[in-house]
Amino acid sequence: MSYNFTVILLAQSLMLLLLWESASGFGLRCKEEERRALLQIKAELQQQIELEWKGMECCSWERVTCDPITGHVTRLDLGVDPMPGSILLNATTFLPLRQLRSLSLSGLGITMAGAGFESWSSLSKLKMLDLSYNLLNNTIISSLAKVSSLRVLDLENTAIVGNIPVKEFSALNLEVVNLRKNGLNGSLPYLGDWSSLKALSLAGNILDGTITSTGNS
Ligand SMILES: *[C@@H]1O[C@H](CO)[C@@H](O)[C@H](O)[C@H]1NC(C)=O
Ligand SMILES: *[C@@H]1O[C@H](CO)[C@@H](O)[C@H](O)[C@H]1NC(C)=O
Ligand SMILES: *[C@@H]1O[C@H](CO)[C@@H](O)[C@H](O)[C@H]1NC(C)=O
Repeated sequence: MSYNFTVILLAQSLMLLLLWESASGFGLRCKEEERRALLQIKAELQQQIELEWKGMECCSWERVTCDPITGHVTRLDLGVDPMPGSILLNATTFLPLRQLRSLSLSGLGITMAGAGFESWSSLSKLKMLDLSYNLLNNTIISSLAKVSSLRVLDLENTAIVGNIPVKEFSALNLEVVNLRKNGLNGSLPYLGDWSSLKALSLAGNILDGTITSTGNS
């Protein structure tokens, strides 16, 4: 009886220790392929953001979040206050991060030219993407057309002009879209067919008319 009780206590302490280890990041095992991809990303972005990424345990690096159980990178917060200067990004560098759910590259001055954002269609978990305050243009919308997991897209201040690209966004099932501070013009389109839409931010454009059939800001 008391022997069994001791065993249970020991097992419980062991479980607590394991829980503590994974909660504090100590038990995480960074995937080597993902660590190498992160170092490549660091090199690509080095003009604009200084990342203290070194060592083997990439899950404990600043701005990197891993799944506490699998150790895969799930989130990268590389956004900065908008920087002067520009970066030629190679989007394929991110592809080894196959479990990536959330990515912010805000303010880095990433240009459209040759970036190859189309390749992110194979990031099948990518749900939140923040590309605000980069040197993009309307082409970004068609480039992301096959990133079908996307639900939240931030394209504030990315030089998108003309009519609101409702068709492209509704085909992607986007729920939250920020298009503030772009060059959108003309009249507001009917948004009732964009059934996935929960929030659309349009301030800082030159639009006429009123929005119907949607939550909006
Ligand atoms: C982008 O990166 C991939 C993989 O790292 C490489 O194969 C490709 O040549 C690069 N593309 C450019 C334009 O640098
Ligand atoms: C967007 O920029 C890229 C790269 O500079 C260019 O090739 C493309 O034609 C531009 N697209 C639009 C719609 O302006
Ligand atoms: C809207 O913007 C586009 C692209 O800048 C421009 O070609 C067009 O003339 C503008 N239309 C109106 C109604 O201002």
